[in-house]
Amino acid sequence: MTTHQYINSSSSFRLVYFLVIGSLVVWSAEGGHRKEQARDRIVKLPGQPRNVKFSQYSGYITVEAKAGRALFYWLTEAPAKSRPEKKPLVLWLNGGPGCSSIAYGASEEVGPFRVREDGKSLRLNPYAWNQEANLLFLDSPAGVGFSYSNTSSDIYTAGDKRTAEDAYTFLMKWLERFPNYKHRPFYIAGESYAGHYIPELSQVIVHRNEGVKNPVLNFKGFLVSPNSLNMPYISFITLIPSFTFL
Ligand SMILES: *[C@@H]1O[C@H](CO)[C@@H](O)[C@H](O)[C@H]1NC(C)=O
Repeated sequence: MTTHQYINSSSSFRLVYFLVIGSLVVWSAEGGHRKEQARDRIVKLPGQPRNVKFSQYSGYITVEAKAGRALFYWLTEAPAKSRPEKKPLVLWLNGGPGCSSIAYGASEEVGPFRVREDGKSLRLNPYAWNQEANLLFLDSPAGVGFSYSNTSSDIYTAGDKRTAEDAYTFLMKWLERFPNYKHRPFYIAGESYAGHYIPELSQVIVHRNEGVKNPVLNFKGFLVSPNSLNMPYISFITLIPSFTFL
């Protein structure tokens, strides 16, 4: 009887112990990503207009710790009133190689802000894609825009394969910081040389998702502009317009 009681109380003690420790672990993991999100939150950009009705975040994700390689992102969510939690996540990539998605895609093409002529203030872009989707701009690969590597040789050994692998690592780690985007319908869009990056990244995602039920990266499709296709003669003809407009 005594032994029985002892076992009983000890196992219930263990249960309570596991519940407490377990919830502490869950709590700290939750707190961890909240803290990281809060750290990345853009409260206000210099020269930002007043009527900004969406949330923005930016920061770095380390994609290779040993080399010290980190990619920079800027997330501009859909307007708070438009229920951004119901809208898809769209990764935007510019091409080049060497074109910053922050400098071009975000600031001159599909992003929510335009730099005013004074070079100091911003105005809203009425045709911004974040009206309909949560837009994630990524400077890729390392060495482009704000993305960097602490191993200088990385800049010279970059290639499409590593670009795709790094972008995939970025996405998976980014989803740990933004778990609210896990399982969200996910698309990739871009132009020019991203016509190489996007199908290669898509292939990596499709392979990794193979046989996975309800994958965290819920890949639905991609969009590339016509001059992105791998046709050297067309690329040659469109080279100058691409560099002018990208
Ligand atoms: C690169 O080096 C700097 C300076 O030592 C360090 O602060 C930073 O965290 C490093 N970046 C990565 C991605 O490891």
